[in-house]
Amino acid sequence: MVKKRRRKVEPPTIHPKNKYSESPPDFALLASLYPSFEPFVFYSRDGRPRIHWTDFNATRELTRVLLLHDHGINWWIPDGQLCPTVPNRSNYIHWIEDLLSSDIIPKTCNNGDNVKGFDIGTGANCIYPLLGASLLGWNFVGSDVTDVALEWAEKNVRNNPHISELIEIRKVESCPTFVKESDNGESACAESNLDLSGVEEQAVPSSSSPFDLSIDANNIYHGPPVLLGVVQDGEKFDFCMCNPPFFETMEEAGLNPKTSCGGTPKEMVCPGGEKAFISRIIEDSVALKQTFRWYTSMVGRKLNLKILTSNLWEVGATIVKTTEFVQGKTCRWGLAWTFMPPTRKIISPHVTEKKNLSFMLEGVQRQFSAIDVLHSIESFFHSTGASCKLNSASFTVDITASKDHCNAILKNEVNDVDEAAGGKHLQETSSSSSCFHVPLNSLSFRVSVFQQIPGTLLVKGSLQHGDIPFPGLFSSIFQQLEADLSRKFCREKATT
Ligand SMILES: C[S@@+](CC[C@H](N)C(=O)[O-])C[C@H]1O[C@@H](n2cnc3c(N)ncnc32)[C@H](O)[C@@H]1O
Repeated sequence: MVKKRRRKVEPPTIHPKNKYSESPPDFALLASLYPSFEPFVFYSRDGRPRIHWTDFNATRELTRVLLLHDHGINWWIPDGQLCPTVPNRSNYIHWIEDLLSSDIIPKTCNNGDNVKGFDIGTGANCIYPLLGASLLGWNFVGSDVTDVALEWAEKNVRNNPHISELIEIRKVESCPTFVKESDNGESACAESNLDLSGVEEQAVPSSSSPFDLSIDANNIYHGPPVLLGVVQDGEKFDFCMCNPPFFETMEEAGLNPKTSCGGTPKEMVCPGGEKAFISRIIEDSVALKQTFRWYTSMVGRKLNLKILTSNLWEVGATIVKTTEFVQGKTCRWGLAWTFMPPTRKIISPHVTEKKNLSFMLEGVQRQFSAIDVLHSIESFFHSTGASCKLNSASFTVDITASKDHCNAILKNEVNDVDEAAGGKHLQETSSSSSCFHVPLNSLSFRVSVFQQIPGTLLVKGSLQHGDIPFPGLFSSIFQQLEADLSRKFCREKATT
């Protein structure tokens, strides 16, 4: 079996400011200090203390003692509600801390020296406001739609008088402008007083649930308001954050048998999934613009991250940033954008490296030669409308791609990333923070193909101009090209 050399993948890291970055929670110590936690701890053969991650009571008790022991927070959630992991949720808080302290957009003093955030869908656990207030003294509005979330978020705030002044829990009221186009084309007020109580425990939103109103044929979100209609007149925020309902169905939500973090349909599921929900945040952000310095959300699928990033360019975000969060063996991504004018030109720290990229195509099937690969590179870019000039003497293709061509290339990535999720072709590469400007001109680069040894080709890409119009984009496109060529020309790879 031929092994494909993988692009160097940066090891996933916990944020350096995270309390658990140096040492993970010490279960033995916690068990000795908290008798309620002790029954959940067992020792594996190597002598290490462990808990059963599939036991909801164990994970909830761990979260309770970590919040109490390390953060001085009194906390609880009822059975079945989504149970957050403290180290992971802290990463998102620290990433926002980095965004706020960076000087790439103006530091406005909207609320004096106080930082004010908005947690969209704070949940019964209210984890982000509790962590943000206790770790960094931030003020928060935490919104939600369900009665159980609102009731328990309030309780969790009240039980922590030292930070309760900093946190407001806000009910998302159904909006009178919640309008649905009827079959005959007329607009009708679908429901002016959407009652969301009492549906928490439904396995999947049934045909008679109010959620029916929140889906249309194109999977566009038409549910309760998210930011517009919840943010009040005159309010200004430094950021919003969101751990969205990631899934389209409860079956999809229950796919990880290795953990039990609870989660009811209302917490986990949204018609159209996270893409629809975050698209609504983007839509609202376009209307609210500089009401928030930074808009952010977690994203569960890399495919959606690419699509949403691309949408953000289209709607005129001035900066878009992404990062990767690691939760055990799964990855989530952070997406942040702003409409503030950048204070300086942003050059990605990796820009100089990214002007020249390369990958090896190993295990190229015998019937294919370098010229076939070259033609394939030409048609790959040509199919998006980019201009391509193939030179078969020098084995190069010169490409000039406009903003639209680049977006089309990224959207083409959809198929490959889907396949990668099935573990077939692509290895997910780590996406360390990157930033994209709204591009002003085009990306011009040369791709060269070199025969190394029979069955192995080196593919190089070099940007053709000194200045890089869309930092980070070239490497995304190049990854896409690598996936495309591997699929077409290489034998099935051994998995590592
Ligand atoms: C995945 S849970 C996240 C809970 C918590 N923030 C966390 O990270 O564990 C998503 C939450 O969003 C809430 N939600 C759904 N639609 C909403 C909307 N339009 N506005 C506010 N919250 C909403 C759900 O009720 C649920 O509590």
